[in-house]
Amino acid sequence: MADFEGKVVIVTGGAKGIGRAISLAFAREGANVLCADMDAQAGQQIERDSAGLAGTVAFQRADVARANDCQALVNTCVDRWSGLDVIVNNAGIQPASSYLPAHELPEEDWDRILDVNLKSTFLTAKYGVPQMKQRGGGAIVNIASVQGLQSAKAVSAYAASKGGLLNLTRQLALEYAADGIRVNAVNPGTIETELAIAGSGGLEALREGAARTHPLGRAGQPEEIANAVLFLASEKASFITGEYLCVDGGLMAKGAWQE
Ligand SMILES: NC(=O)c1ccc[n+]([C@@H]2O[C@H](COP(=O)([O-])OP(=O)(O)OC[C@H]3O[C@@H](n4cnc5c(N)ncnc54)[C@H](O)[C@@H]3O)[C@@H](O)[C@H]2O)c1
Repeated sequence: MADFEGKVVIVTGGAKGIGRAISLAFAREGANVLCADMDAQAGQQIERDSAGLAGTVAFQRADVARANDCQALVNTCVDRWSGLDVIVNNAGIQPASSYLPAHELPEEDWDRILDVNLKSTFLTAKYGVPQMKQRGGGAIVNIASVQGLQSAKAVSAYAASKGGLLNLTRQLALEYAADGIRVNAVNPGTIETELAIAGSGGLEALREGAARTHPLGRAGQPEEIANAVLFLASEKASFITGEYLCVDGGLMAKGAWQE
């Protein structure tokens, strides 16, 4: 695995679920990680849990839908560690209350989902890219979803946000390739986290559903997403940009006619 010794990494939504696994994986590889999350309790917990790793995890409370909070994250990286090398845009929401046909979804819910899941990546790039340019390059990894490629009923805002995130990934890749900044995405299948458990109606239902639908016969673990993120952020992926990697137990390989 890559060596991130001394690299400076922002992980949004980094205190729980997939983001927590990503934050800890970078710290194990020697990185200084700024874990940005709205949940201060989970943020303090990950700071404690990262003690003794090769690198560090520092928590900063942030709502990544807000420009000021994103600017503050980048400022912290510059003040504490003199720059920024990697941004992982992982924060995402899919409230159980938003599982509605489009005409019944409250406009505020649409706006919030789009702001957290999509606009946040524009904001972290807006403030973070100038710092990456000063370092001579960097990497951005966006956690999108298989739902950015194919969808289901009653998830209009989430599906639009993830499809948009895949296109924003390509856009940013083109804009900053000449600056040595690579931009890629990871599309998780069903991963055992709070978000997915809430959406499935409990852990048992999630596991049963994932076993039935995912060709590998199970749900994924957050660490399996972290492995892909570290690869894409590393020098081992030095000729990969504007691309997505599905980490989905084979879900996107399966045609609807298989059943
Ligand atoms: N779990 C899955 O099955 C799955 C599948 C596909 C894609 N994803 C994507 O993976 C990412 C992580 O999801 P997860 O399953 O770990 O979710 P999670 O709910 O377990 O964790 C999300 C984290 O983001 C934080 N967060 C939420 N809104 C935020 C905001 N505005 N600013 C900062 N932090 C915020 C939460 O506090 C939490 O710590 C999301 O983008 C999600 O859409 C998850």
